[in-house]
Formats: sequence, structure tokens, C-alpha cells
Amino acid sequence: MLTAALPVVTAASGPRADRAAEWAAQWAAQWAAEHSGELGELVAQRGAVLVRGLAVTSANEVAAVARAVGIEPMPEREGFAPRDSYAEAVYSATKWPPDEPICMHHELSYVHEVPSRIVFGCLKASATGGATQVADGHAVLTALPPDLVDRFAAHGWLLTRMYNEAGVPWTTAFGTDDPARVDAYCAAAGVSREWLPGGQLRTWQRRAAVIRHPHTGVGLWFNQVAFLNERTLDPVVREYLVSLYGPEGLPFNTACGDGSPVTTEIVETINEVYLKAAVGEPWRDGDVLIADNIQMAHSRQPYEGSREIVVVFGNPVRLSQPTFADAG
Ligand SMILES: [Fe+2]
Repeated sequence: MLTAALPVVTAASGPRADRAAEWAAQWAAQWAAEHSGELGELVAQRGAVLVRGLAVTSANEVAAVARAVGIEPMPEREGFAPRDSYAEAVYSATKWPPDEPICMHHELSYVHEVPSRIVFGCLKASATGGATQVADGHAVLTALPPDLVDRFAAHGWLLTRMYNEAGVPWTTAFGTDDPARVDAYCAAAGVSREWLPGGQLRTWQRRAAVIRHPHTGVGLWFNQVAFLNERTLDPVVREYLVSLYGPEGLPFNTACGDGSPVTTEIVETINEVYLKAAVGEPWRDGDVLIADNIQMAHSRQPYEGSREIVVVFGNPVRLSQPTFADAG
């Protein structure tokens, strides 16, 4: 399995404090613009690059760095966990319990137009832990048991969502409070939906689990089968939610595209392979990580202390999806 280390580029040019304030705020984007060719090449060849020493201190600076390397921020739709919004299409990391890891996933792998780039900016590194790691989807594909891959390649994967009091409200996930606009979005994006009494919304969509990279043609394990499975929830929380809303009332769950369940063994097998493929560096204040979200999955280690990470998704692509004979 490929476990090449994450490439790190250093953008050192003396301490930020030495710079005039108004220039300091623009310096990171200016440096990124001057080095966009080199950074773009590293992302294309290695899947991700960590830029150390950019000394970003605000969400706007991170967004400016993204734009400087040709990444146009896009709004998040169908997010599964709450985020703060700092500015148009610039977000905080998800509000996930700090003591629990966020397992490997490709951001928004289930949406119709997937962000092809993701940029993380570290405004404040946590005292311990909290590293964002990446894993190559091709390495994962080749390391997974062939029978597991064959099954998901043949049938895709199914994501079911329930928008109730337990998770992200549908108004947030779809960026509107108008059910007609949600209906239009779902129709255009291949998302099935059902409005339930009390204004609750249930959605489900079937997507390819194994894809070819739109530029390189390389085969990739590309989905959130393991991470968005009900087993990702704390067992106590899961049990409580099932007792409250029933087994179909969980905020998210996954299945194989033929409707068969994703077992604990499948989730553990996928997460073990991801763990072996994971590479990354502990965050330092001011770091920026740029990744190809199609090629690379990412994860977050548990942490202690305050941690502030800004996230930008950008440059959406519509992946060519195989046609499943009985897709809903
Ligand atoms: Fe993520």
C-alpha cells in the first residue's frame, strides 16, 4: 500500500509580527499566488500538500489563499454535522465531540456536485491531538478485500438521512426554508425524499462507491459507507435515538446499494485499511492543508484543548455515475 508521507512546503519569510499589519493580512494569499503552480502540481501528483509558515490568522485569509491557488469556495449542501459559517462558503470544522475521532471520509461524496478541492486552515492548533490526516483512495481501493470492493462496485452505496430534532435541520442542510426549493434540489440532484408529519424530511440516495478520478482515470474507493453508518454514532446515543425515533429515524445511515446492511465487520475492515493508509502532520498555528477531495479521504484525531480550523470546499465536479438498473 502506498503510504508516502504528506508533502510539506514551507513558506517561511520571517515572523508575522515583523510585518506591517495590513501587509501581513495579504501576505499568505500573495505567497500562495506566487507558488500556485508548484502547489497545484503537488496536489495533482500527491493528492495533498501541507503549507507551513503561511501564518494565516483569520477565515478570510484562508479563503484568500484558496482563491489564490485557483480554488473558488462553494457553499456546503447536505452537510451532516453543524458548522459555523465565518463568511460566504467559509466554515468552521464540524462540531464533533473532541474526544471522538472523525473517521476517514471524502467530504460530501454523496452530493451531486462534489467539491474537488478542500482547504483547511489552522487558526489554532489544539494542545494535544487533533491532527487532520489524509488517505489515498486508490491505495485504499487496492488494499480492501476484493469481494467487498466487488460488491460495492456492482451495487454502489445507499445513504439514508432523517432531518429531525436529532441532527442538522433541513433548512440548514439545504440552505432554504422553502420545501419547494428542497424538492427542486432533490429532483435535480438524484435525491429521493419524503416529507413526514411535523415537517420532518427523510431522504435517500444511491451513489457509486468506486469511481475513476475525473482527471487521472485512477480507480478510487470514494464514499462514506463506513463513516456515515449508524455504527459511527456512540452506542448509547444510537440506542437513545432508535428508542425515540425508531430504526429509520437516525440522522444518517448507510447500506450497500442493493439494500443489504453494512455490518460491523465491513465498517471495521474499511476503517482499518484507512488507518494503515493515513498520513499527516500535527497542526501548527497558521498551517494550510490543500487536498484533492476526490483522490484523498481525510480524518481528524481526537484532541484536547481549544482548536480552530477553517474549511473551504471548492471547484465542484459532477462525477460520472454508473447507472444502477434499479436505482431509486
Ligand atoms: Fe470532513
